[in-house]
Amino acid sequence: MSSTQKNVAQGKPAAHANQSGAQASVADFAHRLQWNENPYDFPADLKAIVMERWAEYAWARYPTEIRPAALLTALADHAGVTPENVTAAGGSCALIQLTLRAFLEPGDGIVLPAPTFGLYGREARKLHAQVEEVALSPADDYALPVDDLLLRGRQSRARLIALCAPNNPTGTVYTADELRRLIGGTDAVVAVDEAYREFCGQDLRPLLDEFENLILLRTFSKAYAMAGLRVGYALGAPRLIQAMDNLNPLFPLPVFSALAAEVALAHTPRFLARVDDIVAERERMAAALGNLPGVTLFSSGTNFLLLQFDRDPAPILDGLKREHSVIVSDMAGYPELVNCLRISVGLPQENDWVVEAVGKFCEG
Ligand SMILES: Cc1ncc(COP(=O)(O)O)c(C=O)c1O
Repeated sequence: MSSTQKNVAQGKPAAHANQSGAQASVADFAHRLQWNENPYDFPADLKAIVMERWAEYAWARYPTEIRPAALLTALADHAGVTPENVTAAGGSCALIQLTLRAFLEPGDGIVLPAPTFGLYGREARKLHAQVEEVALSPADDYALPVDDLLLRGRQSRARLIALCAPNNPTGTVYTADELRRLIGGTDAVVAVDEAYREFCGQDLRPLLDEFENLILLRTFSKAYAMAGLRVGYALGAPRLIQAMDNLNPLFPLPVFSALAAEVALAHTPRFLARVDDIVAERERMAAALGNLPGVTLFSSGTNFLLLQFDRDPAPILDGLKREHSVIVSDMAGYPELVNCLRISVGLPQENDWVVEAVGKFCEG
C-alpha cells in the first residue's frame, strides 16, 4: 500500500501529487465531492441481504432469463407501469447510449441544452449525429428555454431532444408543466434524464400517461448509493422501449447488480430518508454560501451545488485538496462554466470544510 493509499484509508489528507510526481488521481483523495456520488454508502444490513442471496446463486449458470425479469417486474410495479414499459442496463450511461443509437441515424439532429451532462453530446457526435446546442443562461438561473428548444428542433428536423431534469451540471429543476409544453410541442422523441429526481422530490412518471414520445432515464447510482454496481433503467411507451431493447446486449446486468437493485428498491424509504439528510445539508450549505461576496450560487434540486466566482477559484480547489484531501469539480470540460465549481453535497464534516474554504476565499 502506498503512503497515499494509507492516508486515504485512515481518512487523512493525501498529498496533491503522488510519490512518483504524477498528477494526482481521484483515488488519491479521501473525500470525493466531484462526481455527485451519495456520501452514505449502501447500508451494511442491506449489503448482507444481497450477499446472502448472491451466495445462494450458482455462479456457473447464466441467468435463467436473458433480461433481468424479476428486477424489471419490480421496477414496473414501483413506477406503476407494465414490464413492457421498462428496460434496464448498466447505469444510465449505458441507457443514454442505447437511446442515442435507437433514435439517431448518421446526420440526424439531436437538440441538447448547453451546458448539460457531457455524455449526450460526446456520444451523439460519435454516431455522426448533428448536435444542436441551445444555450442556457446564468442570467435567468439556467431556466429551460422551451421555445428555443422547440424552434431548433423544428429547424433541424431533430429526431431526438435530450435533457436532464434536474440538470447536471447546473442543478436546475424543470417543472412538469415546462416539460409538458416541450414534449407536447414536438414529434421528436424526448429523453428526460431523471438521475437526480429524488433530490427535488419531483416524479415525472405521470407524463408517460400523456406522451408516447417520452423516455425517462433513471439510475440507482445516486439516491440508491449504487454507483459502483452500474444499474439504470428507462421507462417509456413499449414501441420506444422495444427499439432500445433491440440494441441491449443479452444479459445486460450482472446478477449481482440486479439482486442489489431489487433489494434497494424494496427498501426505498430507507434511501429516501438519506436523501432527506442530503437535501437538508444542501440547504445548509446554500444558506452559508449564497450571500458571500463575489459568488453566484445557482438554485439546485440535486445533490450538488454550482457556484460561479468573480475570479479563478483555483485556490479553493488547492486548499481543499491540501488541507482536507477533498476534491471538487472545476468544470474544466464545460467552456460555458468559467470560474465555476460544482460541489457534491457530502457528509456534514466535508461540507463544513467546503463552506470554510469558500468563505475564506471570498472574504479573504
Ligand atoms: C445527468 C446524469 N445522467 C447520467 C449519469 C450517469 O449515471 P450512471 O451512474 O447511472 O451511469 C450522471 C452521472 O453523474 C448524470 O449526472
